[in-house]
Amino acid sequence: MPAPIGEIMSQQRNDIGPQRQDGEAPYEATVRPQGFDDFVGQDAVKANLNVMVQAARLRGTACDHILFAGPPGLGKTTLSLIIAREMGAQLHTTSGPVLEKKGDLAGILSGMSAGDVLFIDEIHRLNPIVEENLYPAMEDFEFDIVIGEGPHARSLKLQLPRFTLVGATTRAGLLTSPLQDRFGYVARMRYYDVENLTRVVERSARILLADITREGAHEIARRSRGTPRIANRLLRRVCDFALVKRVKIIDADLANAALELFEIDKAGFDYMDRKYLSTIIEKFGGGPVGVNTISAAIGEERDTIEDVVEPYLLQEGFIDRTPRGRIATERAYRHLGLNLAGKPLDDQGNLFDS
Ligand SMILES: Nc1ncnc2c1ncn2[C@@H]1O[C@H](COP(=O)(O)OP(=O)(O)OP(=O)(O)O)[C@@H](O)[C@H]1O
Ligand SMILES: [Mg+2]
Repeated sequence: MPAPIGEIMSQQRNDIGPQRQDGEAPYEATVRPQGFDDFVGQDAVKANLNVMVQAARLRGTACDHILFAGPPGLGKTTLSLIIAREMGAQLHTTSGPVLEKKGDLAGILSGMSAGDVLFIDEIHRLNPIVEENLYPAMEDFEFDIVIGEGPHARSLKLQLPRFTLVGATTRAGLLTSPLQDRFGYVARMRYYDVENLTRVVERSARILLADITREGAHEIARRSRGTPRIANRLLRRVCDFALVKRVKIIDADLANAALELFEIDKAGFDYMDRKYLSTIIEKFGGGPVGVNTISAAIGEERDTIEDVVEPYLLQEGFIDRTPRGRIATERAYRHLGLNLAGKPLDDQGNLFDS
């Protein structure tokens, strides 16, 4: 029996969204920049990190703790790896949800040597007890351990070597301020402009030995939702398409044809983006509507909507966030081919119902 339409669409959506997909890791590793020089864009962040790393090297100490904040797929993990590499440091990797108990943190910290980098992904999802124990480790390089139980319990301070904690989060807003304050530098990652994304596509194409024209790369970049991970993924899809069509050089027309097939529209929106916008407009009269209501209406988790779907739509001016909820802007109506009354635009592309 064929899969129901809703299921097919949600598979497509998962294929394109900015979160990393299962099985994609080897491809990401192949195209992942190895140093500051081949990491495209984010110039202010890169300049700051470069100075921090160089100063630490000159001083012969560990670098200050660093927090990367920003939507998925913008290069937070990549920059963390680059820092460890540029410091010549040993990298230890874990994540907020993995550190369930204080003992898990103790285990990882006790295995660290001076100058090592500890990378904690999804650091906003740390258990509060673990987080509290991280404070003295970050600040004074000390870790409290309790020996014995009941009235005989004694607390001991374990001295840790100076290490660098690198945290990454898609939800800086969920980080407690004591934790945030303990980072020497908070790197806020921004969506990439088309020019930089074009460079990302061209660079990855070189690695994949794919022949692509500048216009072809530009076409992919334009539809990548400001996100290098999506740009790389679309490039791979377009390469597949070129192979099947037996086309040797990827130009704008070919990229266009491939992306249309994958239902990525001119703004780079995928199924979920369009569903989100059309729900606000068609079901809730354009808003304001609360995020919980939208979440229930489209069957997507609130977190995903807030972390993944909304930031880009907000930045590009397709929605507004107000105290009473989300509002679709004129741009959103136009994008869906509707006038402000929610009816299809007339032949002249007229937005207003006359
Ligand atoms: N500035 C860049 N230049 C070239 N490629 C990049 C850049 N930033 C990210 N990429 C590529 O995009 C992909 C995703 O990057 P990365 O894993 O670092 O994202 P992330 O911010 O950690 O995402 P998540 O929040 O999902 O963990 C990787 O394959 C990486 O090589
Ligand atoms: Mg990451």
